[in-house]
Amino acid sequence: NNQTLLTGQVLTFDGNPFETAWDDCVHINSSGAVLLEGAKIAAVGDAAVLKADHPQARQVSYGQDLICPGFVDAHAHYPQTAMIASWGKRLIDWLNTYTFPEEARFGDPEYATAIAQRYLDLTAANGTTTIASFATIHPHSADALFAAAHKRGQSVVTGKTCMDRNAPDDLRDTAQSAYDDSKALINRWHGKGRAKYAITPRFSPTSTPEQLNALGALWAENPSCLMQTHLSEQPDEIEWVQGLYPDARDYLDTYESHGLLGARGLYGHAIHLTPREIDRLAEVQGRVIHCPTSNAFIGSGALDLPALAQRQIPLGLATDTGGGSSFSMLRTMAAAYEAAQHHGHALHAAQLMWLATAGSANSLHMSDEIGSLKAGNYADITVLDLKSTEAISQRANRSGSVWEDVFATIMLGDDRAIRETWIAGASRQS
Ligand code: GUN
Ligand code: FE
Repeated sequence: NNQTLLTGQVLTFDGNPFETAWDDCVHINSSGAVLLEGAKIAAVGDAAVLKADHPQARQVSYGQDLICPGFVDAHAHYPQTAMIASWGKRLIDWLNTYTFPEEARFGDPEYATAIAQRYLDLTAANGTTTIASFATIHPHSADALFAAAHKRGQSVVTGKTCMDRNAPDDLRDTAQSAYDDSKALINRWHGKGRAKYAITPRFSPTSTPEQLNALGALWAENPSCLMQTHLSEQPDEIEWVQGLYPDARDYLDTYESHGLLGARGLYGHAIHLTPREIDRLAEVQGRVIHCPTSNAFIGSGALDLPALAQRQIPLGLATDTGGGSSFSMLRTMAAAYEAAQHHGHALHAAQLMWLATAGSANSLHMSDEIGSLKAGNYADITVLDLKSTEAISQRANRSGSVWEDVFATIMLGDDRAIRETWIAGASRQS
């Protein structure tokens, strides 16, 4: 028998808390249970009922801990694992000073494999079960992450990063080789087990129009692939893009006019958008991926997330490591809360948890696999200790609501709050 019954407090969604009142669509069952069968979730419900129906299932009791969907990090750079928290620069200087030299080390396939393993260990210890990550220019850097995730039964989205200008010699490809190498990786990995390929032009400044065109053509030929890139992160960057693409109406148009705008497109940051860009993203349902720790750390600005949610633009949440300053989606939710406060909005803990799980899963078009605890989804589960440190457990809970403890864990918690992480039905004890 391959059934396991997890009991505890269970977080479930039956709607989007940015479209409906959060307490109508986000629920915590204080005596809930999740039944795992192999790699998948077989049932979610009341502990007493599921226990009676499945007496033969192995039982794991989590008491008052919160059983959540595993966290989904919708934009990260696993090759930046070893240079996270690099001091003193803004975007372009930060890329040139710290990022590109570190990414050049991935010319060594053994280094790529070692970092991919370490990265998946670090993120699992932080409760993250799915990542959409950039690789480096080197095709084997995408192979390394795909292979490491595949071995763990873990879902991953990645792609070889493409750059054919404004990058060091050893980090440049060409329009043709970017197309050929990406295509070979798609054939090798896309749809193999839980792997999904994202065509990955780094951002408009590091691609020629020819390269963007080639990648747009590749996407049209492989429409089930995702496409990930960066959009409107810093004012200097936007100005640079205007100079490099004088005919473009705006930054988004540099993607749009080369076949790189679509619902399966993931646009990281998107802080400084024009009204036309917002309209177009809403129209095509392009995904905006919010990277709040990175936006604060590199000094990019505070995204007005609720304004984009109001336009029904699908949203994901992401660490953007190593521009982001943490591997933890809890820290990232806290930063999302703080960014929204800059715009006069107080996000509820239910909205933050939704963003980090179901919202991010939806941004990756993976809602029928991950992001919520429902039968048929993969058993990717994070168990949160809501009393993980003295600062949290000794804090006065004035409302008496469990949501107050969830919010305190978001604001004050870290990897110590991750009681356990399950990936495809297997525990990766943290
Ligand atoms: N824009 C282009 N490349 C990057 C990157 O690696 N990190 C961030 N934060 N922004 C980028
Ligand atoms: Fe990024």
